[in-house]
Amino acid sequence: MTFEKILVTGAGGQIGSELVPLLSSIFGEERVIPSDVKEIKDKRFKYLDVTDKNSVDLLIEKNKVDTIFHLAAILSASGENNPELAYRVNVEGLHNILNSSLKNKVNLVMIPSTIGVFGPETPKENVPIETITRPTTIYGITKVLAEQLGYYYYRRFGLNVRGLRYPGLLSYKSPPGGGTTDYAIEMIIKAVKGENYSCFLRQNSKLPMMYMPDALEAIMKLAEAEDKNLKHRTDFNVSSFSFTPAELESKLREYYPSFTVNYNPDFRQNIADSWPWSLDSSAAKKEWNFSPSFNFDQTVKDMIYNLKGR
Ligand code: NAD
Ligand code: SER
Repeated sequence: MTFEKILVTGAGGQIGSELVPLLSSIFGEERVIPSDVKEIKDKRFKYLDVTDKNSVDLLIEKNKVDTIFHLAAILSASGENNPELAYRVNVEGLHNILNSSLKNKVNLVMIPSTIGVFGPETPKENVPIETITRPTTIYGITKVLAEQLGYYYYRRFGLNVRGLRYPGLLSYKSPPGGGTTDYAIEMIIKAVKGENYSCFLRQNSKLPMMYMPDALEAIMKLAEAEDKNLKHRTDFNVSSFSFTPAELESKLREYYPSFTVNYNPDFRQNIADSWPWSLDSSAAKKEWNFSPSFNFDQTVKDMIYNLKGR
């Protein structure tokens, strides 16, 4: 049976730090193994560098892992600062996880993907799953490869690999890990602190986004979906709403009338310009009944409420 022993790689990151408590509450603390290369304050923590094949094997085998949420990754902006590391973690790390999963008969491997798989030639609005995926970032290139490799292991070896393309994720519990969509979280935090914000994207850079509770719901729904209902495997589009930095600034001014933003685009502008504005998430709805709960207004309101209490 799946979910008896769940390994989470990259568990100290933006998603992992919220997914681990959720998995623990659903399946029981003793069934979840949070791992990362950075230490997490959790008695169950295991150090695991996913680029180290032997350690990956040993940990999975020794703990009789049957389910993996593979979150270890280098995101878009950090990837441009260190393409070599991004390749090693995002490609070789995944390869190690897939091979070890086969060897140890792991039942389910979840691999989040991203809007980073798209590129400047992709249509901008309501982008379908099957479209042009010619990214310009090392992050996107590694993630296209990850989707395809996951699908290959499913087709060729029958390994149950599933993945979904997240948009930018908004959350307040843990800081984001070096992405291009991080600006939105930074802007909200600054507004709540009563400070102004210098934004690294232009006012009109529209991007698709989602609130963390919906992102967690999505990955859990896909993990628990009946196999027979899945026509896609590793590349489901999911998203909730889209906005520009200027729209977020103006929404925040409804709460903080004196809040202002300066716009100073840097290298991340090129990344944002290469990504779509909105996604067609209908396959996620059709194949595993996913629809997000939080819209833009509710997300900003909830984030402000929670950040104020910190
Ligand atoms: P994050 O950067 O916050 O966390 C990634 C974690 O991986 C970090 O804790 C880091 O220490 C760890 N890590 C790095 N190198 C490692 C290695 N060699 N071995 C083990 N761990 C290592 O990222 P996240 O936002 O939690 O993203 C998780 C997954 O979701 C990634 O695959 C990412 O591409 C995807 N995703 C995230 C977003 C988002 O907005 N957060 C959007 C789309 C897709
Ligand atoms: N939020 C992520 C990033 O900006 C998208 O995958 O890198």
